[in-house]
Amino acid sequence: MRKPVIAGNWKMHKLIGESVDTAVELRDLVSNAGHSEVVIAPVFTALRSVADRLEGSNVRVAAQDCSTKAEHTARTGEVCADMLKDAGATYVIIGHSERRQFNGETDETVNAKVKAALKHGLVCIVCVGEDLSQRESGDAQKVVATQVSGGLAGLTLTDMERIIIAYEPVWAIGTGRTATPEQAQEMHGFIRRAIASSHSKECADSVRILYGGSVKPDNIADLMDREDIDGALVGGASLEAGSFASIVNYR
Ligand code: 13P
Repeated sequence: MRKPVIAGNWKMHKLIGESVDTAVELRDLVSNAGHSEVVIAPVFTALRSVADRLEGSNVRVAAQDCSTKAEHTARTGEVCADMLKDAGATYVIIGHSERRQFNGETDETVNAKVKAALKHGLVCIVCVGEDLSQRESGDAQKVVATQVSGGLAGLTLTDMERIIIAYEPVWAIGTGRTATPEQAQEMHGFIRRAIASSHSKECADSVRILYGGSVKPDNIADLMDREDIDGALVGGASLEAGSFASIVNYR
């Protein structure tokens, strides 16, 4: 039995006050959502304030990135995993396509960040996904397989217990063009088979694979209906507590 995860990625939106207001509103709207883990990812500067207000609730806090370095060192502008924990995060999103696109992240940096985050006990939401030209040229599975094997390279079965994979086709992010449930299921099944061969069948059966890309209150139920879709990583529709709560309470 895989417990669903519905995570909201707020990206570079909301000041501290707005983040707290949305978090508090959400907390009250999803207080009965025991069927799913509920996670929100505010910007770094809002983590502590949001985490304080969510204490004792069923909403968890994620950071949107972490350093490749696990120890405190000279890396101006970076934030490492134990600092995120210190600020109240228990999850971290790693390798989002926007970081790959705008910050030059590679499967190697993703792998180093995952290892640094695991060292400090964070749960990692590792993002993968092809862009439009890769899908149109028929390379989507090849691209995703490389991202999965590179991002998770060297992880033990114990490490894998703290890994959640998010399949986010780049062409579906912020475009309103969701992958169909069939397209998403096909890739999720493919990822699960890849994990079965790189790790074990048991590991593949237990790893949660989330879908991300234009998830909205009106398409979440169809996506969640598919065998290998274990939750969602939601961008735009997570910014407003009401719409994110409708996604969480999709059943
Ligand atoms: P949208 O839900 O806005 O398409 O964003 C998806 C995403 O990138 C979540 O990480």
